[in-house]
This record gives sequence, C-alpha cells and structure tokens, in this order.
Amino acid sequence: MSDASGAGASIAGHLVLVGLMGAGKSAVGRRVAAVLGRRFVDLDEEIERRESCSVPDIFAGLGEQAFRDREQWALADLLELREPLVIATGGGTVLRWSNREAMREHGTVVWLRANADTLIERVGDGEGRPLLAGDAAATIERLVEERRKLYAAAGHHVVDVDLLTPEEATQAVIGAARSDAVLEADGE
Ligand code: S3P
Repeated sequence: MSDASGAGASIAGHLVLVGLMGAGKSAVGRRVAAVLGRRFVDLDEEIERRESCSVPDIFAGLGEQAFRDREQWALADLLELREPLVIATGGGTVLRWSNREAMREHGTVVWLRANADTLIERVGDGEGRPLLAGDAAATIERLVEERRKLYAAAGHHVVDVDLLTPEEATQAVIGAARSDAVLEADGE
C-alpha cells in the first residue's frame, strides 16, 4: 500500500499516543491503527473492560489513586503483548514515572500536543471526565502547565494538532513515528 506518510521505515514496538484530554488520542489512534493494519486499544476502555466499571465510577467509588493503579496494571499488560498495537493512553497515564519508562521502553511514543484553547473547545463541559468536574476550562489550563514536562519526558516525538484535521493528524503521527527526529527534553 502506498501512503502519504513517506518512508517505509518500521515503527519500533507499540505506537503509543500521549497527550491531554481532548487532544484526539482515541480518534487519531483508531485511524493510525487502520492505516498501519494494527489493533487499536484505548487504555480507558481497556480498564473499563477489565473492571466492568466506567472510569467515572472507578473515580467515584475507589478514588483517583485506585484508578491510577488500574491504569498502570492495564498499561503494563498491554505493553507486554508481542503483537504491535496502537495504544491511546489516558491524559494522566504519564503521571507515573514507571508508566513513562515502560511506554518508552516498549514502544514509540508520540505526544499529541494542543494548546489550551483547542482542548477547551474539544472537551466541552467535560462530561465523562471526572477531573473536569467544575470549571473544565480552568482545569485544562492548569493541566497544560502542570503536565507539559511529563508529556515531553514520555514522548519520542511530538505532533502539534491544533490546526490539523483528524486525517492530517493521522499522517503526521505515522510520519513522526517513522522519523529519526527525537523530541528535545523540554518539549519545545
Ligand atoms: C484523565 C484522562 C482521561 C481518563 C481519566 C483521567 C487525566 O482520559 O483516563 O478521566 O488524568 O487526564 P482521556 O485523556 O482519554 O480523556
């Protein structure tokens, strides 16, 4: 198959997408998986399947740290699979150092970077996202600042998605994952 993403260089291990809520990890990940012929796994959905419980209900019933434990376990199990996957992580998966290390070790990690205005527009009132209860816009602005360095530390590559359609972001992710360029430590 010819594809617009250029070089046929292979993508090492799992292709893992990181970034804040609203960056498009799941929508773009699904498309990337279809182009590459890989299975797509959304980490939040995987946790919900394993726990037979929704993410908001896990937060409400067990608390955030219990959710983070389940997120870490599910991620570790996925990364151990030999079949190369496309994985869309949750926005907070980068919070734990062990997750960042494991993603980098077992995959090619692409950070979908977006500015706060883009994310605020996309998440709306934050429905279904427990961390965005209350003032979703203010929380997004805070998280953009708080987590920037964590996404930069996790990612091998960065794609700025603000001006991209889902199709363009898909090709940009594949191109980035196949390229030799690596992200500077501060993500700038
Ligand atoms: C979270 C992001 C969510 C989900 C949970 C916590 C976060 O995933 O994992 O609500 O801490 O940023 P999405 O980024 O897919 O919305």
